[in-house]
This record gives sequence, structure tokens and C-alpha cells, in this order.
Amino acid sequence: MVAAFSSCLVIFSLVCVAAAGNFYQDFDITWGDGRGKVLNGGQMLTLSLDRTSGSGFQSRNEYLFGKIDMQLKLVPGNSAGTVTAYYLSSQGPTHDEIDFEFLGNLSGDPYTLHTNVFSQGKGNREQQFKLWFDPTKDFHTYSILWNPQHIIFSVDGTPIRDFRNNEAKGVPFPKNQPMRIYSSLWNADDWATRGGLVKTDWSKAPFIASYSNFNADACVWSRGSTTCSATKDSWMSQGLDAASQQRMIGVQKNYMIYNYCTDAKRFPQGFPPECTIA
Ligand SMILES: *[C@@H]1O[C@H](CO)[C@@H](O)[C@H](O)[C@H]1NC(C)=O
Repeated sequence: MVAAFSSCLVIFSLVCVAAAGNFYQDFDITWGDGRGKVLNGGQMLTLSLDRTSGSGFQSRNEYLFGKIDMQLKLVPGNSAGTVTAYYLSSQGPTHDEIDFEFLGNLSGDPYTLHTNVFSQGKGNREQQFKLWFDPTKDFHTYSILWNPQHIIFSVDGTPIRDFRNNEAKGVPFPKNQPMRIYSSLWNADDWATRGGLVKTDWSKAPFIASYSNFNADACVWSRGSTTCSATKDSWMSQGLDAASQQRMIGVQKNYMIYNYCTDAKRFPQGFPPECTIA
């Protein structure tokens, strides 16, 4: 069923799998009336957006922790007004969510990579970045490492954000609700590009985003709960080593364009506790 199992352990009903993905097996196209397509025997997936509709897909599995890689090639040319969202989310009013969102732009203007973390229904933790490459020319890898202590967002292996477990400071951390992987391409020209000033140019439709090389080294949730084994699954206790930390600081210095933790206007009563460096 899956191409590879590595250091797998079955504890009760939770299975840790390292799966080289196949879009037919791992995902369902959930909306868009034929605008989402699986191609090349399951090796590629495309989403498309036109004036009538966007499209989206979701993983068949739910995961509680994982190291999840996906390659994306974003809508080329004039993508202003379009948003490609790629995220993990649980269900319900107090849901957890880990977001990558790519806000399109006019040809030649940079995409914005928007990130957020929701814990128990509360988000408001936006950080935005420019990218150091053109994300529409080739596939690039966007990764989420989610374990009990960290949510690390990486781009082509370079960490850009580390949302840590700060429960000790009273900040809820996503660690009890299993999440599915979701992605969608839709029209958000009321806000996405230059705050909504630049509208989608429908004469350029259909807009197409492509996905490949999905890989989940993750704990699949099934009828119950437990955890992957921290001894077998080294990513379960992985954080950033000193070198990775330095790389992340470098990216944040050079490419971060918005950080909720420095937006004093938004938090007149003081910054959220996770913003204060211990
Ligand atoms: C689009 O490009 C403009 C001009 O470079 C920039 O100000 C803006 O942040 C970019 N991104 C979005 C999503 O508007």
C-alpha cells in the first residue's frame, strides 16, 4: 500500500508510517467539480481556479504529529487575487491549525508566504515572508514538523518559523487533536493582493497550482489515540540545532515582512506570552 515503512511501530491503533506518497491513495479531491486532478499515476496533483470556482483536496488520513513534506509549484504569471492554502487542521470550534498560505501577485511582484498557528480555536499568530526564489518556476518543498514540543515550518529544508510549546507560559499547544492535510486554490481578491487593491484578472484563468512528492513521516490516527514512539521516531523529539537556528534567524532577518510579535498596535494590552523570549 505504501512504498516504504521505516521505524514503524504499532501502539494500539496508531501507526507511524513513512510513506512516499501517492495522490490517489493519500488524498481525496473534495471540491471544485473536476478542477482538481490527479495526474501521472498519482505522482502529481493540480488544482485550478476560474471565475466559477476554485478547487481543493484533503488527506484521507488524520495525523497526530508528523513530519510532512509537500512540493508545490504556484500559479505562474499574474496570480494577483488568488490564494493557495496548504495547511493542517482538526475539526470543530476549538480546532487546531497549522497554515501555509501563498498570496498571489502581479507578474514580477513577489508572492507573500503567510503562516499561522491556531491552538484550541485561537489563531492571530501571523508571520509573513517573502521567498528567496520564484515559487512559480519550479517545485519547492514546504514542510511542517509537528511534534509535542515544536511546530517548525521549513522551505526547501530551511526553517523559517519555530512555534514552540509554551504551555508553561499558559499558551495552548496543538497536541491532542488529530489533523488532516488540506489544500485549496481560491479567489480572495477582496484582501489577498496589496490588501485587496489588485483584483483577479479573469482573462488569465484558469489559474493552476501543482503538487508533487508528498511525503508523510507521521502518526496516523485511527479510532482512538496514542503517540508515536519517541524512541523510534526521532523527529518526535526533534528541535532546531544551533546551525538550523542560525539559518532561521537569517531568513527571518532578511525575508520576514510581518510578525504579529512586533505589531504593537494589535496588542495594546501587551504581546502574547509566546512572543517574549524567555
Ligand atoms: C505584491 O507586490 C507588492 C509590490 O512589490 C508588495 O507590496 C506586496 O506585499 C506583494 N504581495 C501581496 C500579497 O500583495
